[in-house]
Amino acid sequence: MHRFPALLLLSVLPVCAAHPVRARHGMVVARERHAAAVGIEVLRSGGNAVDAAVAVGFALAVTHPFAGNLGGGGFMLVRMADGRTAFLDFRERAPQAASRDMYLDASGKATEDSVIGYRAAGVPGTVRGLEYASRKFGVKPWAELVHPAVELAAKGFEISWGQAQSFRESAAKLGLFAESKRIFLRDGKLYEPGEVFIQPELARTLERIERLGAKDFYEGETARRLADDMRQHGGLITLADLEGYRAIERKPLIGTYRGFEIVTSPPPSSGGVGILQMLGVLEGTDYEKSGAGSAAVVHYMTEVMRRYFADRAEYLGDPDFVHVPVERLLAPEYLRMLRASIDPERATPSSQVHAPAPAARESNETTHYTMADGQGNVALVTYTLNGAYGNKVTAAGLGFLLNNEMDDFAAQPGSPNMFGLVQGEANAIAPRKTPLSSMVPTIVTKAGKPYLALGSPGGPTIINTVLETLVNVLDFHMNVQDAVNWPRFHHQWLPDVLKMERGYSPDTVALLEKRGYRIERVNAQGDCAAILFEDGWLEGAPDPRSEATAEGY
Ligand code: DON
Repeated sequence: MHRFPALLLLSVLPVCAAHPVRARHGMVVARERHAAAVGIEVLRSGGNAVDAAVAVGFALAVTHPFAGNLGGGGFMLVRMADGRTAFLDFRERAPQAASRDMYLDASGKATEDSVIGYRAAGVPGTVRGLEYASRKFGVKPWAELVHPAVELAAKGFEISWGQAQSFRESAAKLGLFAESKRIFLRDGKLYEPGEVFIQPELARTLERIERLGAKDFYEGETARRLADDMRQHGGLITLADLEGYRAIERKPLIGTYRGFEIVTSPPPSSGGVGILQMLGVLEGTDYEKSGAGSAAVVHYMTEVMRRYFADRAEYLGDPDFVHVPVERLLAPEYLRMLRASIDPERATPSSQVHAPAPAARESNETTHYTMADGQGNVALVTYTLNGAYGNKVTAAGLGFLLNNEMDDFAAQPGSPNMFGLVQGEANAIAPRKTPLSSMVPTIVTKAGKPYLALGSPGGPTIINTVLETLVNVLDFHMNVQDAVNWPRFHHQWLPDVLKMERGYSPDTVALLEKRGYRIERVNAQGDCAAILFEDGWLEGAPDPRSEATAEGY
């Protein structure tokens, strides 16, 4: 950590509420400190940002089991110093045996099977994705990237306050599965902060991956044991599903905003279309003139969010299965039409934007990390098990949790999923299809160089967290740490509720209520990990809402 001493800070640095961590040669912003340290060590020893991203991905699978994973999936956005960009989609895919109505009971009602237990898991993509990234963009040998995770699993690491708390909060559900209960809850004798957590089964799995590569996970011993466990417990994932899994390299979605280039996530992320559409509607409106945090700004941005999330429900899905009209959703005349439909004084009821629908649940269980090296390469990863500790099942003898990503599909089009998202046919379940995601790693460039790189967990709130942090920097000229810290809000069309963090004053909330909003106060939204690039400095901004850290050198 390179923080300036307080006195110096008061005397020479520009006025702002908080300072990022500044370094020149490398920066890692991640959710957990042991994993961040692994990333910095990889950078220091000659690895590039992608190498560090791969190593941190494996390390978080050990030190942040809440969301870090081998049994889940995600996205990596890469921008190399020579200007090449890539979006690696290693998200879970529906098993071959999945079917449209697999989570409905005989009376047509959605069951909990998409959320908890073996049937909730999609085919995991993380190990393939990290291997693809390392082969295509990395410079270090694979074993050097996996080995630190093997060590962390075998020798253990100290449990933080937040991790101890998190096991406690999820104990009831993790405790339903014997292997999860034994490993993560120590058979009921819960870990206290400072105790060392050792994971021998996970160490052995990682050691095989270190030695044999992703082949072990998809075709070797790990694959066979995972498929056996699935078969014994009514899960759908077969050896053929694992053997057939491929990471997909896609072209990032690229747009512009006020002269900046925005490099962001294409479908099956719904996020990039959202970021570009919402920025497109905001551009040229002078909405920012009312000032960051004002009721007028929250109002205008909420209306922009509401309209985008209605489009998300209708049009977004896996582009390999459904046509996603990206160009139309971003066309200037369409953006003009959306802009014209916003009343600058009054909330538009969601029922007038699209069909009405039901209530919601919320949570915060993915993880995002952002890294940059001194050569100008940038790599961002958002990956996840979906819910906290995924489907709560630990694969027998393998030591890693499985995802419940199948819940990101519209298990019942028109009914809310665990994030309260109402989604349509475009995101209905089909074999081998990828569920629609909100994860949206994003890079802003200025004059052909990286300027800002960021992402967050938080289900659908991810898209709004990234949007808000972006405009805090680009429109409200906050430094990057202030931009990350700033209070957040979220609207997702349905339910028709504006969620606002407690950082907003009761006066602002009252003004918004007068404009017609139903408001719910929330404690924290998202966990943004951002890096700003300025005058040769890397400015890392971890989110104070979590135990995230920025490490630079
Ligand atoms: O891909 C998605 O949109 C979700 N599976 C992300 C889940 C998430 O962020 C959970 N934590 N908040």
